[in-house]
Amino acid sequence: MDKKLSDLGKATLIGLNGSEKSIPSRFLYDQIGDALFQEIMALPEYYLTRTEFDLLTENAASILSFVDANKSLQLIELGAGDGIKTKILLRKLIEMKIEVEYLPIDISGNALDSLKNSVLQEFPGLKIFPQQAEYFEALEILKVKADKQKLVLFLGSNIGNMTLEEMQIFLKQINQNLNKGEYVLIGFDLVKAPETILAAYNDKAGVTKEFNLNLLRRMNRELGANFDLDKWKHAPIFDEKQQAALSFLESTVQQTIHFEELSFNVEFKAAEKINTERSQKFTESQIRAYAQLAGFEEVMNFKSLDFEYVCALWKV
Ligand code: AVJ
Repeated sequence: MDKKLSDLGKATLIGLNGSEKSIPSRFLYDQIGDALFQEIMALPEYYLTRTEFDLLTENAASILSFVDANKSLQLIELGAGDGIKTKILLRKLIEMKIEVEYLPIDISGNALDSLKNSVLQEFPGLKIFPQQAEYFEALEILKVKADKQKLVLFLGSNIGNMTLEEMQIFLKQINQNLNKGEYVLIGFDLVKAPETILAAYNDKAGVTKEFNLNLLRRMNRELGANFDLDKWKHAPIFDEKQQAALSFLESTVQQTIHFEELSFNVEFKAAEKINTERSQKFTESQIRAYAQLAGFEEVMNFKSLDFEYVCALWKV
């Protein structure tokens, strides 16, 4: 094969090769996936976004009371998305007359463009420097030393997409790239009734199903695959042992899928599954342990009692 493989192509060759099949969840977010995720965030079952939004609204002043009002602040956001929640903090910072620079980082260039437009619409003249990068690449941006203090935002329970091992490494690297006295604010979804969690990933309207199946449409389009979507179902579970919601695409029949662009065939048995996402849920003692392991001092957990969710503020 002399054609250069796309990232999705490489991930497919690796992820669908063995018996435990999986595709990294970042591939769910193409343009259609981004739009479907916007719809997911508004679903009645998807409590995460709403809960975090309310938490930030209620606690913005308290969160920002920890930053040094005499220094200008660099607000660095990993996986910025639509920035709706960050705008709550920006509004408050401006009200508090704290000078702020906003550095949203996301893998989607599309999302960053519309984010920049909507931020500048509400806050004309705000210093905003979007960066298209993956999480681990984004760490480089944290290293820059300046006479500014940094607050790193990692919201939306995006951290739950990492494995516990990846998360440990990532948090340690964030810690090592920040200066003493700087902060991170991380959104963690807490362990709660399994039915509540599972419903959030298996909504009645079927939007999450479309979001998951969109990966097959994407592979058909970008890799010349021949997935017949009628032969696949959205099959999320809540794994009690791992305390994680796991999303799967399940083959309803025995079938062979051909990937024209990869010159690659994959055999699926009936009921065989492809793991497409994991969404880890946490306990507060686990959160404490991860803070300590990475070298952070816990400042405060801003916690929603009705929907068991935490925005954790940590200090280097
Ligand atoms: C954006 C990764 C936080 O895991 O809850 C929502 C993605 N997937 N419904 C999550 C998602 C299906 C979401 N994160």
